[in-house]
Amino acid sequence: MDKNFLWGGATASYQCEGAWDVDDKQPSMWDVYLHENNLENGDIASDHYHRYEEDIRMMAEGGQNTYRFSLSWPRIIKDKEGTVNEKGVAFYHRILDTCHKYGIEPFVTIYHWDLPQYWEAEGGWLNHQVCAAYEHFAKVCFENFGEKVTYWTTFNEPKWFIVNGYFIGNYPPGLQDVQKTMYGAYHVMYASALAVRAFREGNYPGEIGIVHSYTPVNGVDDSIETKIAMRYADNYCNNWILDTAALGEFPIDLIAKLSEKYDVSFMKQEELAIIKQYTVDFIGLNYYARTLVKPYTEGETQLIFNHSGKKGQSKVVIKNWFEQVKDPNSEYTAWDTEIYPKGLQDGLLEAWQRYQLPIFVTENGVGVREDVSVECVQDEYRIAFMNDHINAIMNAMDQGVDIRGYYAWASFDLYSWKNGVEKRYGLVAVDFENNQVRKPKASYYWFKEMIASNARLITRRKFEGDKIK
Ligand code: NOJ
Repeated sequence: MDKNFLWGGATASYQCEGAWDVDDKQPSMWDVYLHENNLENGDIASDHYHRYEEDIRMMAEGGQNTYRFSLSWPRIIKDKEGTVNEKGVAFYHRILDTCHKYGIEPFVTIYHWDLPQYWEAEGGWLNHQVCAAYEHFAKVCFENFGEKVTYWTTFNEPKWFIVNGYFIGNYPPGLQDVQKTMYGAYHVMYASALAVRAFREGNYPGEIGIVHSYTPVNGVDDSIETKIAMRYADNYCNNWILDTAALGEFPIDLIAKLSEKYDVSFMKQEELAIIKQYTVDFIGLNYYARTLVKPYTEGETQLIFNHSGKKGQSKVVIKNWFEQVKDPNSEYTAWDTEIYPKGLQDGLLEAWQRYQLPIFVTENGVGVREDVSVECVQDEYRIAFMNDHINAIMNAMDQGVDIRGYYAWASFDLYSWKNGVEKRYGLVAVDFENNQVRKPKASYYWFKEMIASNARLITRRKFEGDKIK
């Protein structure tokens, strides 16, 4: 295995830092939404704000050589005028310095969903001004941290926060409005291009990409109707992010379809030219599962998300586009996520063929309920999950795909948005009820060995039918 391959874990500011109002941090849209609706929140989360040194040290002790994390906009920028909060900047310098101290390559996400509330109050991603405000925030990050960071990404999962916030309505701001979803999506992709432009014009060292919640699309059969449904699904799930960021163009058939019913005149030529010019250097793909579809048959659009952890609750039907179905032969988690490693291999190949850009697998993991009062959580299911997905990556690399890194979601247990802390993903257990004690799980040790003894050999053995020790 290439020595430069990045092996690590990922987190996000709101999900792990806590310290929601410490050192002049402003409230984010998530702080306000969760407080107002009396929902489980990330006020304390994993208290990474105070325990980052221990967390990063454990990454290094676990043999990892990289850490993917995000910068909190409301921690760094105090107001709409763009005033910098030096205490917020100092915090990220501490994180970056600690990474370098332990030989951990930082992989930085500029935006992972925690929009400052002072912008949400002005319409958030529906307000065009937010694009320029984001560009300013990105520039502040490049200026302050540029010398300590090689890998930047503009956004984490535009599809997820835009669709959930404006179309499904289960994330803030909780809307169900197609036209607004289109505005939000457009503004985010435009803002991403503005950050890429600022990065290039500032001549900062390193590379810049975007991270996408990748769900490669499969169909139930080979019929023409299914192929058409698959294209709708791919446009909805993947193409408006990846085509736009990597090729500089929104999918033309998606825009044509939307323009039958909605206004698309807000897409301005001069902004589309910026999107066209400032494409990314690499793509980050978060992979949890594929999307299996059949042609739409009847009924209204239905988007039901399983936040309860009780199987069989989710549903995705988009009227006149497609219907998502379950594969009766697959295994699903309690939150209805299919476990399908082959989807990663196929998806990596597809993304490589389409975009010809280096790829990082920026998230991959499985969320489960776990008893963390024990000495060491024996998470064999996570080991099996990671093993099979890393295997899929190796197979894709064998087929010529340029893959540069793998990030487990998550480095340690953290707050999982609407699923709270009950849904655990970490390689390290965090006992939220007992003084935030950290305890590596079996998967942490497995990951360490896998990295140390050359991933290619170990995963090959599994691939060839042998058992992993
Ligand atoms: C996607 C997101 O980036 C992250 O915030 C989330 O918690 C995980 N995947 C798990 O669902």
